[in-house]
Formats: sequence, structure tokens, C-alpha cells
Amino acid sequence: MNALELSDSDFRTLAARVTAVAAGYLATLGSLRTFPAVSGEASVSAFREALPEKGLGPAALDALTQVLDFSRPPSPRFFGYVLGSGEPVAALADLLASVLNQNVTAWRSAPAAVTLERQVVEALAAALNCHGFGGSFCGGGSMANLMALAMARESRLPANAAGATPGVVYASSEVHMSIPKAMALLGLGRENLRLIPVDACLRMSPAHLREAIAADRGASRVPLAVVATGGTVNTGSIDPLPEIAALCREHGLWMHVDGAYGALAALAVPERFAGLNCADSLSVDPHKWLYQPLDCGMLLFKDAKAARAAFSYTGDYARSLTQDPLEGFAFFDESLELSRRFRALKLWLSLRYHGLDAFRRAIRADLRHAQLLAQQVAASVRLELAAPVTLSAVCFRYRTDEGATPDGDRVNAAILRRVIERGHVYLSNATLSGRFVLRACFVNHRTTEADVAQIVPEVLAAADEVRAAR
Ligand SMILES: Cc1ncc(COP(=O)(O)O)c(C=O)c1O
Repeated sequence: MNALELSDSDFRTLAARVTAVAAGYLATLGSLRTFPAVSGEASVSAFREALPEKGLGPAALDALTQVLDFSRPPSPRFFGYVLGSGEPVAALADLLASVLNQNVTAWRSAPAAVTLERQVVEALAAALNCHGFGGSFCGGGSMANLMALAMARESRLPANAAGATPGVVYASSEVHMSIPKAMALLGLGRENLRLIPVDACLRMSPAHLREAIAADRGASRVPLAVVATGGTVNTGSIDPLPEIAALCREHGLWMHVDGAYGALAALAVPERFAGLNCADSLSVDPHKWLYQPLDCGMLLFKDAKAARAAFSYTGDYARSLTQDPLEGFAFFDESLELSRRFRALKLWLSLRYHGLDAFRRAIRADLRHAQLLAQQVAASVRLELAAPVTLSAVCFRYRTDEGATPDGDRVNAAILRRVIERGHVYLSNATLSGRFVLRACFVNHRTTEADVAQIVPEVLAAADEVRAAR
């Protein structure tokens, strides 16, 4: 017997134990601290034990308790960043995906997985009113944005053969950090990303965009693409997609929509995303607002030929032996990735189990929770809203005598640290107009109105503690 062989009965015993651990964890989620009471030092010493030369057998699983204890739970009161809540049916599918261990490179390597992925991608695109779009899963919004800009570059300023020449990309000043990163990685250069001013609702100003394109053309630079954001990471603002689409058409620019955070809300409130289907490419992240376990990003595009122009470069060993359009299909012709896990299984199973309507309702609940928090913030004389609430991100500040100054920022940062230490709710932060603000983002199917109601009292209690300690 191979040293790594596991008998059927041992697998069943281990799987039952892991399932019991997972189920027990889910059952206690609501009562766990939103961040474990653990220091960096304690986490390092907890996992310091050397890897054993001789296997521990089932006792290896004993240490899982510690992993759970030291993890930041997917609590109903986790409101940090833009992080979905890990839907459990999808988590079970992930176990099966690992057991199946399909390499979703091409149909010939993974017939069921490739077929399911293509169908889930197309169905989700259609549900977003982007009929006819194709695409693929990837690690997340950053990867999807990188691939989208690679497609934009290859379609307007081909670089794959001879190397990159600079072209200008436009995005609002609220753009996600993955876009400047992609500019750097693609050899376009971060300095060729124009940050267009935003209006009072933090949406890109089409008038300023028009001026910037004209200025670049006037200086003999080559405008390449516009990145509109459908749900900015800080405040959830949605750029004016129809106006941006019209400008892209007029100037022959690639239109990418970074909808990693927000665009899936089009399932619930499509009217806010008019113009989404004008995009040449669109990033969406089911691991954010479809509550899927990480990782589950997706790039959608209108024209598969543009994806092939950017990504198709096949080594002899991977060349297809068939002309059949289904059996000859390879994701690596349309994506940066070669080896790929079976990400479609979790989303497919989770959507089949709950139905699309349940997801639409969960998204609507998140939107409602954001409005509820905004009202509670507005009702407190000690707090102030820092930005309009378009989707499910709420930015606010604790009012200090120092006001919107660096000292006021320091007090708010101290309050955030204290909120996290208290462990009842988890918030994160954002910088708006150069000022530090507290931020709660609702992309959590476990959150109830009672959970939302804890946020303001927690912030005020943390503020009292900070003031008492000064
Ligand atoms: C608007 C936007 N774009 C891109 C990303 C990056 O997504 P990921 O973390 O999945 O790479 C985020 C992450 O929050 C985001 O909010």
C-alpha cells in the first residue's frame, strides 16, 4: 500500500470529523468574537511546531481547534472590507471539487467542470442583463481587472509580440488599487492612468473625462480604455455608465467596468446599473456579493475573439486534437490561468440549492441594512455620515472637537482599533477627501437588523473608552 493511501473507512471517519467541526463552528458563529483575542506573537507560537517526519494519523486533526480559535470568523457582525460570508452549501461543494481534483484547463481535461463553468458564466451574465457575454472564473477582482486591461491593451495597442507602448487609461479618483497595479504589470505605467475627478456622489465626471481624453489626444498620447467602477470600494458609488459608454464609443476606447464589489447587485436593483451591458469587459466577484467562499472571481467579456487575441498562446503539448467546438474548447485560450480549480461547482450548487430569488433577496437585505445604519448614524449627534450611501457601504465619522483634521483622524483610527478589540462588531476604514473614516460594508447573508443595531452603540462605547484613556 502506498504510504499516502487512505482507506474508504478512514476517509469516511475523517470526513465525518471535519464535517462535525465545521457544523459546530457554524452553530456558534453568532456568539464568537468578531476578531479572535489573539496577538501576532501568540499566533506564531501556536503554529510553531515542526512538521512531523512520521504522520500523526487522526491526531493531526486535533490542531484544527486551534486553527478555528485563531481565525477571524465569518460572523453575522463582520462588516469589514468587501468580504462575502461563505455560503455553506458552496463550502460543501468545494470539498467535492477538491476530491474530484479537476484541472479546468480545457474540456478534454474536465468535461463536466468546463461545461458547467461556461453555463454558469453565461447564465450569470444574462441575469446581469449582459446577454451573450462569455468569460471565466478567476481568483478575484484584481485578477479579473488585470485580464480585462490586458484585453484592452491587445485590442487597441497590440503588445503581445513586440512589447508594450504607452497608452492612456482613465478611471475615477475612487478607482480600486488593482487598476494602477494592472497598469504597472502590463507595462502601460501607472503614470498613464488618469484619475478623473468625481462629483458630490463620488461618481466619475463625464465632462472631466471628455476634457482629459482631448488633452491627451492634443499631446499626441493614445487613449486606450476607460475603467468605470460599478460600486467603488470606499463608498459603493456607481460611475455614470451610459455617459461613459457614449464617450468610449465616440473615441473608440475599450470600456471596462470594475464591478467586483457592486455589479452583482444588478441582480436585485438592475435599474441602478443601466449601461452595464455596454461594457467590453466586466469584473464581478461572487466571493463578495454572492456570498461564495473564496476564491470566486469572474471576468465577463462581450467578444471572445478579444480574449483569444490577448491570451491564446498554446504550447505544443496542450494543442487540441479535435475541431469540435465544445470538445476543443480551452479556457487557457481566453484566460491568463492554465491550471484552474473547479470554482463553478460551488456557485452552481449554491444557486441551485437556494435559487436566484434567495440571492436577490439577500442582496436587498444588505442594501436595506446599509440604509438602516445610515439612519442610525444620522440620528446620533456624536456621529456624521461621510458619504452618500449608494449600495451597501456606509462611511461615517465620530465627531470630534478637532473636526476633519489629522487629530480628528487619529481619534477615529483609535476608535476603530478599540471597536475591533472589543470584538462585538468588525468595521474597517476608508480615506475620503484625505480624511480617515469608519466604514461598514454589508455583503453578509447572516446579518440581521439586530446585528446592524449593534454598530452605533459599539462605536460610541469604543469612543468613550478612547476618550477616557486620553
Ligand atoms: C471595486 C473593487 N475592485 C477590485 C477589487 C479586488 O478584488 P479581489 O480582492 O477579489 O482581488 C475590490 C476588492 O474589494 C473592489 O472592491
